[in-house]
Amino acid sequence: MENSASASQPRDLPWKLVWITGASTGIGREVALQLAARGVRVAVSARSAEKLEGMGALIQAYPLDVTDPKAVRDTIAKIEMELGPIDMALMAAGAYAPIDLNAFEPEPFSHMMQVNFLGVVNCISGLLPVMRKRRAGRIAWVASVAGYRGLPKAAGYGPTKAALINLAESLKPELDLVGIKISVVNPGFVETPMTKGNDFPMPFLMKPEDAARRTIEGLEQGKFEVAYPTRFVAILKITRLLPYNLYFWLIKRGVLSDKK
Ligand SMILES: NC(=O)c1ccc[n+]([C@@H]2O[C@H](COP(=O)([O-])OP(=O)(O)OC[C@H]3O[C@@H](n4cnc5c(N)ncnc54)[C@H](OP(=O)(O)O)[C@@H]3O)[C@@H](O)[C@H]2O)c1
Repeated sequence: MENSASASQPRDLPWKLVWITGASTGIGREVALQLAARGVRVAVSARSAEKLEGMGALIQAYPLDVTDPKAVRDTIAKIEMELGPIDMALMAAGAYAPIDLNAFEPEPFSHMMQVNFLGVVNCISGLLPVMRKRRAGRIAWVASVAGYRGLPKAAGYGPTKAALINLAESLKPELDLVGIKISVVNPGFVETPMTKGNDFPMPFLMKPEDAARRTIEGLEQGKFEVAYPTRFVAILKITRLLPYNLYFWLIKRGVLSDKK
């Protein structure tokens, strides 16, 4: 049984209690399972209550829509009352829809901003008061390498992830001073329900198990940015240094798509 360890004795990790949003599927769910397998108690949130049940003895479900700030605050209070202080929160709830030029409507832009960006802001807003009191805690959120530069199809999703990276850069110096650590997780392509419908090449596609392992490793090391897979991240970071004319030339020729 992978979740049989006692909650008071995490075997080798610095957290007793971790809260994860977006934990019903994909990366968030896999991180929850791996943490519990290593003896950490995990509070899991997402909208689909039924998918959060039966994840293991150390995993407790707190269904939640992260776009509702009051529900976020109430959930944090409930977790802390029932399970104790949250040592680390990993905000992995997210939504993705490709933008079709032939149906360019504001709705998907608004939805992705509500869930991906403001959902994280709601969670930070709920966590700050309790973590500030303790002058302790780590808040991590999952952005994406899609936030590094604008990419085709990602006109709705990419800006939410760029905003999350900028949010982390903006908050880190001040939060350091009040004893709260933050991390931003930037995965490349991961095989989850989110990427299932993609009809374009996904270079360096990873399994969610590997993404979760890399996420936990990076957070355990206290990294500000946890980014993977390494080669894809390196390629994309180099593209950040390119002038626009060269960047667009490369994108149009699909250089990145050929790296599979
Ligand atoms: N897969 C990739 O290639 C990839 C790459 C880079 C970054 N990411 C990011 O990684 C994170 C996890 O994505 P994933 O690939 O694991 O996708 P996923 O399997 O689709 O997971 C998304 C999670 O977010 C939850 N969610 C969606 N809307 C929500 C809301 N309003 N309130 C609460 N929970 C909500 C979903 O559960 P419910 O539907 O039950 O609410 C689900 O648990 C996302 O932030 C995503 O943008 C993914």
